Parts: sequence; structure tokens; C-alpha cells
Amino acid sequence: MTTEKKVEALRRETSPLFNDRKIKLGTFSSNLSGGCAITTIDGVLEVTWPNTLTLARLADEMEFEALVPVGRWRGFGGVTNFNGAGFECFSWAAGIGALTKYPAVFATSHVPTIHPIMAAKQATTIDHISGGRFVLNIVTGWHKPEIEMFGAPLIEHDARYEMAAEWLHIIKRMWTEDDEFDFEGRYYQVKGAYLDPKPIRRPYPVIMNAGGSEKGRHFAAKHCDVAFVVFNPADLDGARRHIAAYRKLAREEYGRDIQVWAASYVVQRETEKEARDFYNYYVHEKGDWVAVTNLVETMGLNAQTLPPGAEEAMKEHFIAGWGGYPLVGTNDQVVEGLAKLSDIGLDGTVMSWPRYEEGMRQFQKVTIPALRQAGLR
Ligand SMILES: Cc1cc2nc3c(=O)[nH]c(=O)nc-3n(C[C@H](O)[C@H](O)[C@H](O)COP(=O)(O)O)c2cc1C
Repeated sequence: MTTEKKVEALRRETSPLFNDRKIKLGTFSSNLSGGCAITTIDGVLEVTWPNTLTLARLADEMEFEALVPVGRWRGFGGVTNFNGAGFECFSWAAGIGALTKYPAVFATSHVPTIHPIMAAKQATTIDHISGGRFVLNIVTGWHKPEIEMFGAPLIEHDARYEMAAEWLHIIKRMWTEDDEFDFEGRYYQVKGAYLDPKPIRRPYPVIMNAGGSEKGRHFAAKHCDVAFVVFNPADLDGARRHIAAYRKLAREEYGRDIQVWAASYVVQRETEKEARDFYNYYVHEKGDWVAVTNLVETMGLNAQTLPPGAEEAMKEHFIAGWGGYPLVGTNDQVVEGLAKLSDIGLDGTVMSWPRYEEGMRQFQKVTIPALRQAGLR
């Protein structure tokens, strides 16, 4: 089928996230300066509209399934003030949705920063702009200083997910119910809630959540279509069990099938040694360890994604690619790594490159054909 025909089919009924490719692919954090690499090397992503659009268009040409921006309101300090500059997710998704054809376009939405009526309306607008490709990624917030910018405290961890459940309940009702409704909840009260038109994707857009805590996992299993996991790259058997347990939780407790994804980062060179040398250069020689320390400390205090004590060991992976799985080596090794991610049970991975555009162009040239040849795409 030509891309145009596929796009038409998606517009009518579904999202590229539900295609049958063995490993689905996406970009991660292409809306923020630095992307996913916390380093002072030259060539890291500088967020301007032309730069972020170039990355989205490259992903579109490769028929990536997902464009996942990160919701961030201030940076993490250090000399890079990592992720301090960047574009707001809904407006980014609207622009990117208008200018791409194939990938699902996500907006990462911090629950306490946006009223559900506004979120439902904006999401619907972007779903129309993108022809049914919008995905709502729900995050509850953990970077305390950025949530406090909105003038209210970051509420207690588990209560954040109760608030998110009310927030999403209102949004789903607006997306699906024709009649106006009132809602009296603990966190939200709405009167005569009304939405027209409805989203293109019926009954409503795809929903993602990446909560790592027990409460977050139950939220995703119960309410969402796509969940993200963070795991120790050195323990793939543990990751396999964790992914299987996630699916089992969704199926057995909530009667639902969910997709499970993870993040990864790509450093590909002619030889493994060259790839490792470049990794050492941008992570160990040029990494911004002050910014990453601030990041993992606030994450350690306010989120439950990383096992206690794992923060120190994960710092390196956060510098290299936001805690993702390393795809470091030759093209064959990158392909093998992606095959491994599929083998442990993941549906897909959102990727980043330290030098984002250069890395994506190389991926397009050599990795995509190799993935096709390996039957993974
Ligand atoms: C792939 C992925 C994407 C995420 N995107 C964001 C984001 O854009 N903004 C944000 O504040 N948190 C983001 N998170 C963090 C999670 O949504 C979650 O808040 C955090 O991992 C803490 O989990 P917990 O709330 O279950 O303790 C992301 C996590 C992952 C794994």
C-alpha cells in the first residue's frame, strides 16, 4: 500500500500505533533543547521550529509510528540548563500534526497544568489537524520546581494519579458523550460540559502514560493504551518479566490489552570501538553531571520510577539518552539491539540521538533498510 493510501485508512479508523510491525519506532524529546543528551558537545539539538520540524519530517519519511515530545517547563541547571528551552507540547503537536502524514503525534500533558475541558478541546483540535493521529500522553509531574511555577504545590504522589483519573474521566466523557454533563469530583467540578466536534479517532484518541510506580502502573493498565517502562539495561531478563507482568496486570485486573514501550538512544559508528569512544566522549568527558544530578535527585524525591538506590547507576544512561536503553555500536549491533527489545516483549521504542539530526539521517540511510531486511519493519 502506498503511504497516501495508508494515511487515508488511518484517517478513517485507526492510528499507526496499531500497525503490525514487529518493532515500532518513535522520536523522543525532539521538542526540547538538548533532546535527550545531557552534554556540552557541539551538534546537540537546539530547539528552533525548523530544527524540530526537520526531525519530525525525517521520522515521517521513515514511517516512524510515534513522535513523543517531553512536557517540560524549566530546565535542570548545570552549564547546559538541560531541557530549559523548548516548545509546549500541545501547540508543538498541532504544528507537527499539520506538517506530517504518518506518525502518531503525541502531546505530553501535565495534569495539574491544564484544565480537562481545555485538554479535551485542544486534543480534539489536534486530532482533526492530524487526521486522527493525536495521542494524549498523561503525566502527573515530578519536577517539583516546574509544577510550583503554576502556583500550587506538587500534591502527594498517589493522589496525583487519583486527580489524573478524574481529569481523564471528564475528558473521555467529553470525547464520547453527546449530551452535556455535570461532574462533581474531589479535584474537579464541571458544569454543562460540552464538546463539538468529537475527535476523528473513535471512540477517542489513543492514551499513553509512563508512570513507573505501582500506582502509576495501575493507572496505565486501567485507563491507557500505551505504557512505558524504564528498566536496567544490564538486566534484560528482569525487563522481560517486568513487561510480561505489566501486560498480565492489564489483562487480568482490568480486562485490557496494552502496548508496552521503552525509550532508547542510538550511537552508531563504522566500528564498535568508534561508537564506544564517541559515547565516552559525550557522556564521560562532556556530560553535564551537575544537571543530571539535579534531575535524578528531584526524580528520586518525587517519583517512584527508579528503584531506590538506582539513581547513581542510572546517571550515565540519563546523560546518554534520558535513561533509555543503549543502542551503541555498528549498524548490525543497533539492529540486533532493536531485535532484542522486540524479543523481550516491547511493542516499540522511542529513540534519541546525541546529535539528533545527523543521527537520524544515518539511521534513515543504513538502519531502516537493515531493519526491513531483518523482518523487523
Ligand atoms: C518515555 C517516558 C516519557 C516521559 N515523559 C515525561 C514528560 O514529558 N514529562 C514529565 O514530567 N514526566 C515524564 N515522564 C515521567 C513519568 O510520566 C512519570 O511521572 C515518572 O516516571 C514518575 O513515575 P511515577 O509518577 O509513577 O512515580 C516520562 C517517563 C517516560 C518513561
